[in-house]
Amino acid sequence: MSVIEQSNAPVADQSTEPSPWWRQAVVYQIYPRSFADANGDGLGDLPGITSRADYLEELGIDAVWLSPFYPSELADGGYDVADYRNVDPRLGTLEDFDEMLDALHSRGIKVVVDIVPNHTSDQHVWFQEALTAGRGSPARERYIFREGKGEDGAQAPTDWESMFGGPAWTQVADGQWYLHTFAVEQPDLNWASRDVRDDFLRTLRFWSDRGVDGFRVDVAHALTKDLTEPLPSRVDLEKLPFDGNHPLVDRDDVQEVYAEWRKVFNSYDPPRTAVAEAWVDKARVPRYASPEGLGQAFNFDLLEADFDAGQFETVVRENMELARVSGSSSTWVLSNHDVTRHATRYGLPHPVREPNGHPSVKHGLDWILSGGVTPELDRVTGERRARAATLFMLGLPGSSYLYQGEELGLHEVATISATDRQDPTFFRSGGVDLGRDGCRVPLPWAASPESAFGFGEGGSHLPQPDWFGRYAVATEEDNPDSSLSLYRRALQLRRTLQTGEQLEWIDTGHADVLRFRRPNGWEVVTNFGTDPRLIESDGVLIATNEMTDGMLPGESTVWLAPRHS
Ligand code: NOJ
Repeated sequence: MSVIEQSNAPVADQSTEPSPWWRQAVVYQIYPRSFADANGDGLGDLPGITSRADYLEELGIDAVWLSPFYPSELADGGYDVADYRNVDPRLGTLEDFDEMLDALHSRGIKVVVDIVPNHTSDQHVWFQEALTAGRGSPARERYIFREGKGEDGAQAPTDWESMFGGPAWTQVADGQWYLHTFAVEQPDLNWASRDVRDDFLRTLRFWSDRGVDGFRVDVAHALTKDLTEPLPSRVDLEKLPFDGNHPLVDRDDVQEVYAEWRKVFNSYDPPRTAVAEAWVDKARVPRYASPEGLGQAFNFDLLEADFDAGQFETVVRENMELARVSGSSSTWVLSNHDVTRHATRYGLPHPVREPNGHPSVKHGLDWILSGGVTPELDRVTGERRARAATLFMLGLPGSSYLYQGEELGLHEVATISATDRQDPTFFRSGGVDLGRDGCRVPLPWAASPESAFGFGEGGSHLPQPDWFGRYAVATEEDNPDSSLSLYRRALQLRRTLQTGEQLEWIDTGHADVLRFRRPNGWEVVTNFGTDPRLIESDGVLIATNEMTDGMLPGESTVWLAPRHS
């Protein structure tokens, strides 16, 4: 049996210093508008979260991350923020926020909030001011305004496309154009402006003073830009290397912003934490995760991987190494509010991949476009693999990020009509991409469809399908074989098992079986194939499917007790 050791344990691990809470936390992402609706207006809210604090405690998570709950016109599900230091009145008040924070803190759950620094909403007072103040004004300096090209400047400054489809520039009444990397309603801020920088420092202090424990930083790689003329065309832009000098993304100078943020984080006791959403070349991830910067960065590799032993092993090896380089702990994600839920992904054929290994289109897109008809979704396989992948992930060193509803084994909803859709991706792609609404459908709490399956008295802002009742909390709660019961048991167990951040790979002799050992001898084995495999062990701690005569069934994960010999 060959053993290969990987470790990203910081030097501090050898001392008696307790490890900071975030290094190996299980963080549960709440998409507030779809979690629980206390005031019956069809939209989830902060009192709704408070009312479910016991549920969160029982689940056994360490922290929640709240997607934006700030005032917003909802052009991009709240990622178009109109006021960074307030609560959307439809979701509650600042007092409701404080109550929610107390309810979670008193149950030992930390709270991470989403910060959206690349762009504001077009309803933000700054953008409204920029529109009226006119060209050359200090108000326009906070955004990226340029003159158009051609006669009368009637053509956009460049042919760049926004991430949601369509042009990245929009013209305002006096003829100037503003840049928006995302929707028209999300004008990009100008991070060369001291005003912009100072205002975000105020925002970080505002929430930190209220007791927030950390921040999830939206599109952390895109803030600083070099828009010196002449601006490159889209084709030229695509040829430029991502070496820290790219005009639009992952510039070295974005770290100057985070160095300032770090000073704010470290002025609190305990220091506030941050995790970067940075879509950058792997080798550059440690910059964002470094202790001088944001401190941790998302790794989305598991979320892009097939249910495949080779791919999972590569992802773990690479990301453990990246974490070692930065000194941070690794993060792991299988689902979030931007992708097809993993129970569904794993029940669909593997996506076609580009030479760089990335899926060529969003996994599940064809299935969503067909209204959930073709290719046929194998729900049972999807759920079985989802549980196996989750238990594998929860056994890894570092932080696991869960997305609301995945603990129920919930599937993506593909049956949302065009009139019900909300995601700007749908509108800006002309319906070519149906967007991300299918993973944002409000959670089923009760088995019966009344009161939107217990979501709230006022219906559900995205339609819930009939089958949601089968996945409701109430349905699963008392069933020991449910996904929810598995998550609860695994999270409890993880708390007792998780120690140092090391991992030792153990050769299993089977290409489709991965096995690793953690510091106190606890082992994790996943059989990615379909044939049962004989696994030597001295006792099972938890398994996604029962082992008989030492055989681990296909598409299953088991956690094993430490070996005696
Ligand atoms: C990333 C967020 O996860 C996504 O939901 C949002 O649309 C974009 N950033 C733009 O803010």
